Amino acid sequence: MKTDELREKYLEFFQSKGHRLCASDVLVPRWDKSVLFTPAGMNPFKDHFLGKVHLEFTRATSCQKCLRTGDIDNVGRTAYHHTFFEMLGNFSFGDYFKREAIAWAWEFLTEKKWLGMDANRLSVTVYLDDDEAAGIWQNEIGLPPARIQRLDEKENFWPASAPSSGPDGVCGPCSEIYFHPPDGSKEVEIWNLVFTQFNRDGAPPDNLKPLPSKNIDTGMGLERIAATMQGVTTNYHIDILRPIVEAAAEICQQKYEPASENGRRFRRMADHVRACTFAIHENVYPGPAKQEYVVRRLLRRAVLDGHQVGLRDPFLFQLVPTVAEMMRRPYPELGETVERVADVIRREENAFLEKIDGGLVRMERIFSQIQASGRNEVKGADAAELYQTHGVPPEMFEQIAREREVAFDWDGYRAAMDQHSIRSGTLAETVMGSFGPVDAIKSEVKSTLFLGYESESCRTTVRGIAAGESRLEVLTAADGKAILVLSESPFYAESGGQVGDQGVLGGPSGEFHVVDTQKDGDVWLHIGQCTRGEIRVGDEVQATVDADRRSAIRRAHSATHVLHFALQQQLGSHAQQRGSKVTDDLLRFDFSNPDRVAIQDLDQIEAESNRRVKSAVPVSAEVIPMAEARQRGAMMLFGEKYPDPVRMVSIGEFSRELCGGTHVNNSAEIGLVEVVSEEGVSSGTRRIEALTGPRAEEFRRNALTIHETASRILQVGGDLLGAVEHLLAANKELKKQIDAGKSADAAGDSRHAVSVYTAPDYAAVRESLRSISRVLNIPQSQIVERVQTLLNEHAQLLEQVTQLGSITIPTAEELLAAAVETAGARIIARELSGGNANLMRQLIDQVRQKNLPVAIYLAAANGPDKVLLVAGVSRELVARGVSAGDWVRETAPAVGGGGGGKPDLAQAGGKQPENIQLCLKKATDVMTAWLESGK
Ligand code: SER
Repeated sequence: MKTDELREKYLEFFQSKGHRLCASDVLVPRWDKSVLFTPAGMNPFKDHFLGKVHLEFTRATSCQKCLRTGDIDNVGRTAYHHTFFEMLGNFSFGDYFKREAIAWAWEFLTEKKWLGMDANRLSVTVYLDDDEAAGIWQNEIGLPPARIQRLDEKENFWPASAPSSGPDGVCGPCSEIYFHPPDGSKEVEIWNLVFTQFNRDGAPPDNLKPLPSKNIDTGMGLERIAATMQGVTTNYHIDILRPIVEAAAEICQQKYEPASENGRRFRRMADHVRACTFAIHENVYPGPAKQEYVVRRLLRRAVLDGHQVGLRDPFLFQLVPTVAEMMRRPYPELGETVERVADVIRREENAFLEKIDGGLVRMERIFSQIQASGRNEVKGADAAELYQTHGVPPEMFEQIAREREVAFDWDGYRAAMDQHSIRSGTLAETVMGSFGPVDAIKSEVKSTLFLGYESESCRTTVRGIAAGESRLEVLTAADGKAILVLSESPFYAESGGQVGDQGVLGGPSGEFHVVDTQKDGDVWLHIGQCTRGEIRVGDEVQATVDADRRSAIRRAHSATHVLHFALQQQLGSHAQQRGSKVTDDLLRFDFSNPDRVAIQDLDQIEAESNRRVKSAVPVSAEVIPMAEARQRGAMMLFGEKYPDPVRMVSIGEFSRELCGGTHVNNSAEIGLVEVVSEEGVSSGTRRIEALTGPRAEEFRRNALTIHETASRILQVGGDLLGAVEHLLAANKELKKQIDAGKSADAAGDSRHAVSVYTAPDYAAVRESLRSISRVLNIPQSQIVERVQTLLNEHAQLLEQVTQLGSITIPTAEELLAAAVETAGARIIARELSGGNANLMRQLIDQVRQKNLPVAIYLAAANGPDKVLLVAGVSRELVARGVSAGDWVRETAPAVGGGGGGKPDLAQAGGKQPENIQLCLKKATDVMTAWLESGK
């Protein structure tokens, strides 16, 4: 039975038993801080078990993507270990319990219509005192007692050993089903039925609190049951995994031999690349910590395998399409990100491969030192150095050490890494945040009550003043920049990308202007200056936020959410926020996307944002339990830390984000969203800058003016982009002709000579300006200036090219014929009006190719006050000590210039075209003197 079919049968079976089919949840659960990756099918339902959410259904079934790193070292070595795997599960939330769970598991496994397994090959285990489960197996299913075993909490509790050693959370006794293979090999656990009825809270005894209801959580590893059904001895040989293993072998130009060391490597590559494909698909890129570090570690381990079979170039990325193909049926979305994922993997491979050789050499040296010292342990400091300098993850080092039976000093490693972070300044930054006087105020005030969601002004009390290194009782203008702490504050303190508020604090005898608001823990810091009279600790002040600015910030922040939605609509769900900065009517938004966003996409994103703005839907915020936010589909960002309860901001029905910022009340208040620019920030991350409200409107007006002005300059009626491209091409062509010394035949004028400008509609103007910005690589605001420059350049080039047409270029023979002969050499000194440097150099070359002792000096007037001098000397004369460089250095002053160069060729500029003849005469005289003096 194919794995795809098996997966579908399972889900179909449980749907037929009244279960709601739930799609696999994400691999990286943003809301669950207790895990890095989803470790089991039940994880997405934790809150259901705990009774934290409103239950829309009480029976569910799913096939969940999971990733566990606990057994990472066994991957490839054993038949059944994976990092990434899929788990089939059925769940009951206070609905059915043991009887149905057991009966249905048995029916699914043994009935012909479903898996039709031989009942005689199955046995079960139950928890020590679980008479109820044992009774059901024996009396209702009819299993003989010999095939029902009772085991302790290590085996038959989930999580294993939960009662005595945790973790805290939902747990319960379980019953496992085993399959006994016909070849007599060891039995395999295929299904775990967990009777989830407790919430573990703290250490024993009395730490198992009954849950509000009795639940069921079953988990069956898809790969394992597939291996059983397909009669293969390892999960890696099932239909959806073996092709990846074989593709790995093929890339390594080897045959896959299961029992060999390389066989193990190929299985490990297959597992790790599959895990990383799924993680990177969800925007978890290789990095230094947490989930990102796991991805890095897996990739590097697989790259090391490749390196050990002789590969020196990135290879793993080539397996991504195979992974996507194998997993296509349940996860078609993987197909959409193959290129991005492969690209991320290839970069990480490259980065590691660059360092790996050095790393391995260093590692060997460390091993020889260990041998020599007789102390059979890798020192922590060595491991830290190997990681930092050569990128070898310590876990990888430890594994290799273990293979050589060498211990690994983890404590030493951690200590060395801690020390490193002090040296590299991480700690210094932490210390910076706790400056003296503010700390003292903080310890008294503890927290500021934030009132800014409801109001923009309030009466409150000054609780502390800090200026420089001092804590003050009274502040005047003379004290300069200061920090004020209040009991309550309507000022928003910078966080979540939104800038701090500005405004005024008006006291009984003075005024303080707030230019920025920050927070330190729970205390708000109002940063600014006393602008009138004095402010005292204890003063009652009216704290008033600059309301116009605040409104502009609110527009920009709500627009950020709208834009986020539009980006995902247009580009796909991978286009997730990676960072943002929100100020007054200006926002910067970083998001994941492998490539530059096409102009058509940008136009669509902008148009969709504006449609959403105009739909005039309410914007609201509510503080709700994290579980509820998740159930209602709130967007959560990778790497963000969320409190519980959370604040969820909704815009109509289309956007739900967890956010602490200040927002408009209705989307229409945003007015307008204009995307100003799109650029790359780092590999895989793009940045959009956009304007809102009046600034966006101003930008629009400017755009229209820019388009019109530039069109008038170029005398085009509508197609400005075409005209700019034409002008660029024409200038390029002219330069080519001038360099080649050709006259103006084909270049022509770039102007279209259309005098009536008809403004296209705004969308066309935007598209045209966006394209022009990209073509010229400048922001829109510089377009007019650049167009003017290009046009001026065009005129100059045209003039030059026309001049070229009027000059007669002498041939080498003509030049030589007119040369002055002195001391066995010829001297040529000529004006070449209209000549350019390239042309002059070419002529000099032609003369020198005649293989005669010759010195050539050419001068050209280049505009009203510019002279160009180029001189060359043949090989024979260079050998006699004559230098073209010296020649121009000595003579250029005659045209008010200077310059130099090499002995065989030199160039100089001057400012007095009227003295060209004088200069040429001097050149002849100088050279004659040199030659006659024996050079
Ligand atoms: N949570 C249990 C497991 O992971 C059953 O789904 O094994």
